[in-house]
Amino acid sequence: MRVVIVCESCFGNTGSIASAVADGLRDAVPDADVSVLDVSGASPDAAAAADLLVVAAPTHTFGLSRPGSRRAAQQMGATITPSVTGMREWLGSLARTDVGGHVAALDTRLSSALLWGSAARAMMRRLRSLGGTSLAPPETFWLRDMAGPPLDAEQSRARLWGAMLGERLVSATPVR
Ligand SMILES: Cc1cc2nc3c(=O)[nH]c(=O)nc-3n(C[C@H](O)[C@H](O)[C@H](O)COP(=O)(O)O)c2cc1C
Repeated sequence: MRVVIVCESCFGNTGSIASAVADGLRDAVPDADVSVLDVSGASPDAAAAADLLVVAAPTHTFGLSRPGSRRAAQQMGATITPSVTGMREWLGSLARTDVGGHVAALDTRLSSALLWGSAARAMMRRLRSLGGTSLAPPETFWLRDMAGPPLDAEQSRARLWGAMLGERLVSATPVR
């Protein structure tokens, strides 16, 4: 079983949450081939070959990042190149033939009553419009501050979420 996690991360938090999700998937499905790819280098072919495609991105300005918000993150100390492909652009480049299987989406964002919106919801809308079958509702992992770190226990919650995806994938996949 092949699982591909495609991840955008400016400050590294979404990356570390995505790694924990990958660990959880391996806990639940030890023989699964699980890879975590940075969105800047992920090819649409990788998505097309996956039994489960998980996308992970930070919430910027109530949705997915844009070159301008990535530039703002860089000015705040993030180690990314804003012009490089972000999740919005990558999802925009996918065709229906790239997304035939199961999908899931997660974002990271601030734990603040003043901010709303979710990159995960936007990503899931796009994946479903391309024909993906959702394995779970879009999920958010909460951060203490713009640059992180995640709130206590979010890392272990991410691992459990990954394991839950693995279990659902196994029950949803017919035995060949
Ligand atoms: C330009 C910019 C806009 C942001 N907008 C939001 C927002 O609308 N809502 C929110 O909860 N967090 C917002 N954040 C905080 C990000 O969600 C947070 O920096 C991100 O989850 C960190 O993930 P990363 O370490 O993977 O980059 C914003 C951050 C930046 C840099």
